[in-house]
Amino acid sequence: MSRDADGANTGTPNQVERATVALDAAFGPDGDAPSSRSTSAPTVAVAPGRVNLVGGHTDYNDGLCLPMAVDRHVAVAARPRSDNRLRVRAADFDETAELGPDDDPDGWAAYVAAVARVLREDGPVAGADLAIASDVPTGAGLSSSAALELAVGRALLAVSGRDRPAADLALACWRAEREGVGVECGILDQFSAALCEADSALFLDCRSRETESVPLGDGIGVLVIDTGVSHELTESGYNDRVRECAAALDSLRDVDRGLDSLRDVDRGLDSLRDVDRGLLDAHADALEPVSRRRVRHVVTENERVRRARDALAAGDLRGVGDAMLAAHESLRDDYEVSCPELDAAVELAAETPGVYGARMTGGGFGGSAVALVDGDALDRAERAIRAAAPERVGPDADVFACRPSAGVRLVGEE
Ligand code: GLA
Repeated sequence: MSRDADGANTGTPNQVERATVALDAAFGPDGDAPSSRSTSAPTVAVAPGRVNLVGGHTDYNDGLCLPMAVDRHVAVAARPRSDNRLRVRAADFDETAELGPDDDPDGWAAYVAAVARVLREDGPVAGADLAIASDVPTGAGLSSSAALELAVGRALLAVSGRDRPAADLALACWRAEREGVGVECGILDQFSAALCEADSALFLDCRSRETESVPLGDGIGVLVIDTGVSHELTESGYNDRVRECAAALDSLRDVDRGLDSLRDVDRGLDSLRDVDRGLLDAHADALEPVSRRRVRHVVTENERVRRARDALAAGDLRGVGDAMLAAHESLRDDYEVSCPELDAAVELAAETPGVYGARMTGGGFGGSAVALVDGDALDRAERAIRAAAPERVGPDADVFACRPSAGVRLVGEE
């Protein structure tokens, strides 16, 4: 059995084993092709969930993020078939789907179908039997869907004899999520699941799509506090926020264009990324209050990501923690995507000894908070937060430590 790329005995080997066993149990050890007998060991791909340390709701505004992949994974075991169908077993749901190239299913199978559809655009995708096993909690803001997309994508490419650089695969999976599933998301989740490196956070510029790994160092612990309040991005206010940002950008352009016609300057406001504090302050009064708050969040959040990246690189964990706490306030008050349980989780973490900072992570409206913790105090902090969480956060709250992990990979090629 393979070990995680970090060398740690994490949940991944378990998911690899579960997916492999589920594949054989559902479809037989030789799939549908007797000739595959000599090569019957399946191809297995794994992709991680993620937390985002700072940089919430900046990605679809061409902004900056600082995510970290976690040691919770989706594993997809795969064997090619002799026809062009996909038979897919979801071990966690005890369900099987069978998909032809033109099928458009609902639920978890929609992600598989959407990834296959996008990958077929620039090359053949073999028919395959797939089995999926995951320990990334769903609806918890840890990006289980991007992990599923990346693991399915990597496995399908492998059984089709194809390969693609990780960033290309991430973009294909991002399109699958937007076009196939209908979330108007940015690239944060797919790039995190594809490009994060072990023991590091990823500084991601969503405009240039350039990335830079920022080592996390030994003395850092990370805790996830899953509020147990599930969020569903297609039904939450997520797409509303995307539209509010587009509307705020239009208003800013209108006001700015008015001034520019006097100054004859083209400022090139292509996205909220192009807005800085000076521009926001100059036009604040001309914006609707909601637009002003949304823009203020995006502008200050991009600043916080830069600050957190620099602090992390300098080993200033208190600086990173301060940026996380300020980010949470901004997401709560200006962007209005938090909820009482997330606020309680952040408050609880912030008052726990050894915690540098915490914030909601993911889309919001439920899901998880992430806390940055002094490595030496991690066990104690985890115990204290776990003991208080049912009363302070909610009856279904869950608390676990995680380690910064590597992005999508094929088992055996780590
Ligand atoms: C969800 C989306 C991401 C990103 C985050 C918020 O996870 O899928 O694209 O917008 O919310 O930062």
